[in-house]
Amino acid sequence: MKVAVVGSGGREHAIIKKIKENPEVEIIYALPGNGGIAADAKCVDVGAKDIEGIVKFSKENEIDYVVVAPDDPLVMGAVDALEAAGIPSFGPRANAAIVEGSKVFSKNLMKKYNIPTAAYETFDDTDKALEYVETCPIPTVVKADGLALGKGVIIAMTRDEAKEAVRSIMLDKQFGASGNQIVIEEFMEGPEITVLSFTDGKVVKPMVSSMDHKRAHDNDEGLNTGGMGTIAPNPYYTKEVADTCMEKIFLPTINALNAEGRTFKGCLYFGLMLTKDGPKVVEYNSRFGDPETQVVLPLLKSDLLTIMQATTNGTLAETEVEFMDGYAACVIMASDGYPENYEKGYEISIPEEVSNMVFVAGAKIADGKLLTNGGRVLGCSGIGKSLEEAIENAYKVVDQVHFDNQYYRHDIGQRALKAIR
Ligand code: AMP
Ligand code: GLY
Repeated sequence: MKVAVVGSGGREHAIIKKIKENPEVEIIYALPGNGGIAADAKCVDVGAKDIEGIVKFSKENEIDYVVVAPDDPLVMGAVDALEAAGIPSFGPRANAAIVEGSKVFSKNLMKKYNIPTAAYETFDDTDKALEYVETCPIPTVVKADGLALGKGVIIAMTRDEAKEAVRSIMLDKQFGASGNQIVIEEFMEGPEITVLSFTDGKVVKPMVSSMDHKRAHDNDEGLNTGGMGTIAPNPYYTKEVADTCMEKIFLPTINALNAEGRTFKGCLYFGLMLTKDGPKVVEYNSRFGDPETQVVLPLLKSDLLTIMQATTNGTLAETEVEFMDGYAACVIMASDGYPENYEKGYEISIPEEVSNMVFVAGAKIADGKLLTNGGRVLGCSGIGKSLEEAIENAYKVVDQVHFDNQYYRHDIGQRALKAIR
């Protein structure tokens, strides 16, 4: 089989390494991939948002299955375009990827189908939004409607901050057209849990739960980032919470999308908060999380490609989705200065013995050398029988990987360990 994976991050590297385990796979192309992914796949110079280019490449190279990993191409209709060309692919069509593409859409969907989430109002008029924040409960959360590289959420601790957030999103267009509409919602408190789930639109099979670490620095200080590390499973996700989520959130979401004529196939990402009133949805994403994937897939026992194909074919009910009993941790090694300004171009060394647990995100090859080329450079994962062991193993990999100007958090998993103890 010939497989193509669209995207260029650590998540895509983890997906590619897992797909490689299937003996029927002859070749994997990465569109466009990166310098580190090049060790495991053939990188092709087709951008992840170049839908026409993706279809053209897949047709010309007789690709049997395409995995569309990032949000942008999914929201832009990559799966629809591939389907029209007769090429099976992993991911939702555009009309279902809208659960991530529009927060106004997803909030309205949850309200209509009684899926627990923060109370909210939506606005397309700046004056009305400003008037609303004069009297709404504080803190409050202001969100741009559309995709904003995970940055379109502002938690306002004061009324002035809320007004400032409304102005910067709606008037200054800090996130471009994504801010034409906004959601202003209730501030929730509690531990956060990510659950990635496979679905074919009929059944939903959750993967092992995980916990992200979004802030740049130790002790959850510093700016929000795309994610500085993850652990799995998440200790807050007990059997009881899982059962509640299945009954009140996962199945109702799949059913709601079906009822709206927007059947979701692929990986549906549930961003959850365990509030004192039970689990509530913070956000949906229409794809695998990054860096959640780097801890979830190393624990997957079943064959990833077979499961992905089952979501496309509608045969997920009879397909095995099994995880190991252990734990996993992933530590992101970034360029110092990320998520603001940082330097690039430093040589990276990844010893062969640990390369299987290193997922490269921001790197390029120049003159035969692997060089840093992004904010989040790579993720180092470890697995173990206990969470302590998994964390220790992830940091052992970190110790063996080198590049100058590196920065990483030293406390990945500590929050979860506290919850267990
Ligand atoms: P989102 O992009 O919607 O996941 O939001 C990014 C992050 O902002 C989440 O992971 C939460 O940590 C935080 N957040 C979003 N919505 C809320 C909320 N209603 N209350 C508290 N924190 C929130
Ligand atoms: N790690 C958060 C996300 O993938 O959206």
